[in-house]
Amino acid sequence: MSEDKPNSTHFGYKTVDTDKKAELVASVFHSVAAKYDIMNDVMSFGVHRLWKRFTIQTAGARPGMKVLDLAGGTGDLTAKFSKLVGDKGQVVLADINDSMLKVGRSKLRDRGIIGNVNYVQANAEALPFPDNHFDIITIAFGLRNVTDKDAALRSMQRVLKPGGKLLVLEFSTPQHEIMRKVYDVYSFKVIPKMGDFITKDAGSYEYLAESIRMHPDQETLKHMMQDAGFEQVEYTNMTDGVVALHKGYKF
Ligand SMILES: C[S@@+](CC[C@H](N)C(=O)[O-])C[C@H]1O[C@@H](n2cnc3c(N)ncnc32)[C@H](O)[C@@H]1O
Repeated sequence: MSEDKPNSTHFGYKTVDTDKKAELVASVFHSVAAKYDIMNDVMSFGVHRLWKRFTIQTAGARPGMKVLDLAGGTGDLTAKFSKLVGDKGQVVLADINDSMLKVGRSKLRDRGIIGNVNYVQANAEALPFPDNHFDIITIAFGLRNVTDKDAALRSMQRVLKPGGKLLVLEFSTPQHEIMRKVYDVYSFKVIPKMGDFITKDAGSYEYLAESIRMHPDQETLKHMMQDAGFEQVEYTNMTDGVVALHKGYKF
């Protein structure tokens, strides 16, 4: 997409000017930041913790490693990585949204996670880090919101060290018809009501459901990662493909 940037893109089911999407996404996360964690637990019945646990296991972070938790939001993955990489390692929690970063920073500080974590406000499309810098990059439930996903994947490829691993945890396409039907009703009818009740913002959770449907499915994302230069790309479906973890290496 990036060489010939189109004038319009999607924001959920709406078609918007490409230059406006980031602003619209920002307004969603400014609005939900304070209640983001509780909504995640309620909407997923806590299952997002299992998806994230599997992501951490797959990442294989070791003491001394440098990890980028991109679109890291309120820092669930950063908190775990911080313990795994230890004093000699470093975790960068990068996010475009200062409200999400603020909630993340204060949550992690309250938990005593201080020494090896840095917070950086950055757009995934143009990462402000040197080439070949990180051992591991994760982007959890973030890529869906990025306007130019191909540019973002190339940017991640650039800052990953040779031998490094990218993990993309994202909503994806359920594999069975029955699951697709149940999930449709749940995400279009139930989640916006929960969002309204908890955050007083049904619209942001309508966007969530729509943005999930507009996101590339498992195979398409795999090809996008390969096109961005990642190798040995594979994915694991979780909860019947409601969520998929894509893994790719830079060699
Ligand atoms: C659904 S939250 C995910 C937060 C966290 N990774 C998690 O799994 O709980 C998506 C995050 O992506 C961030 N985001 C959206 N567009 C971005 C971009 N272009 N670059 C960096 N972060 C972005 C949002 O600000 C938000 O914090």
